[in-house]
Amino acid sequence: GDVAVLVPAAGAGVRLGAGGPKALRRLGGEPLLVHAVRRVAAAPSVSAIVVAAPPPDVEAVRALLAPVAPVIVVAGGAERQQSVAAALAAVPEGPDIILVHDAARALAPASLVESVAAAVRAGSAAVIPVLPVVDTVKEVGADGVVLGTVDRSALRAVQTPQGFRRSILAAAHAGAAAAYLTDDAGLVEKQGVPVTCVPGHEHALKITRPFDLAVAELLLGQAT
Ligand code: C5P
Repeated sequence: GDVAVLVPAAGAGVRLGAGGPKALRRLGGEPLLVHAVRRVAAAPSVSAIVVAAPPPDVEAVRALLAPVAPVIVVAGGAERQQSVAAALAAVPEGPDIILVHDAARALAPASLVESVAAAVRAGSAAVIPVLPVVDTVKEVGADGVVLGTVDRSALRAVQTPQGFRRSILAAAHAGAAAAYLTDDAGLVEKQGVPVTCVPGHEHALKITRPFDLAVAELLLGQAT
């Protein structure tokens, strides 16, 4: 395989309520991270997986994932971007395509991993999976009064895995200040690199709130 997948899983996960790091929260009896890594490892192009774990949990995560797939586990950082940088630094020589995939998108299917990787292989420097936005979206002031309505047809909701030519992601992280960004494509956009969209997948939903966990439980048994 020519693909390495970085899995930042070092977040505290406060929005799911008390109970420890979000990536280790259970879905159908197994941690979200196990679900995510199992699906990534099932993608034929993937030859390396690097997980960034909460620093106190590195050994436990290694033990947890050993029966699932061969993975490298490193300590994550205080911000998501630092966790991704730590994982990137641990990627072995070889893979020319790097995907970054949030553990919180635990049900993203192997087919989505393959389609993002294929788009990078076909020549795109950076690739993101997206879905259309179904709700009307408004910009609202701090006082709760609407400032304006955004043209929904131009908007997309962005998922992971996001895919990059290895040199592009490495350069973006090397050149990055402590930017306040919520995804990796944002870093390469800042470098002026074009980012290409491919169709996302509904099962790649981000499991953030208790409602999402309930939806994910319902999706667990379904084939993708
Ligand atoms: O907090 P948020 O939901 O945006 O986190 C997205 C992903 O980034 C999660 O998988 C989380 O575990 C990871 N993360 C991380 N290191 C941090 C913060 C978040 O690996 N310091």
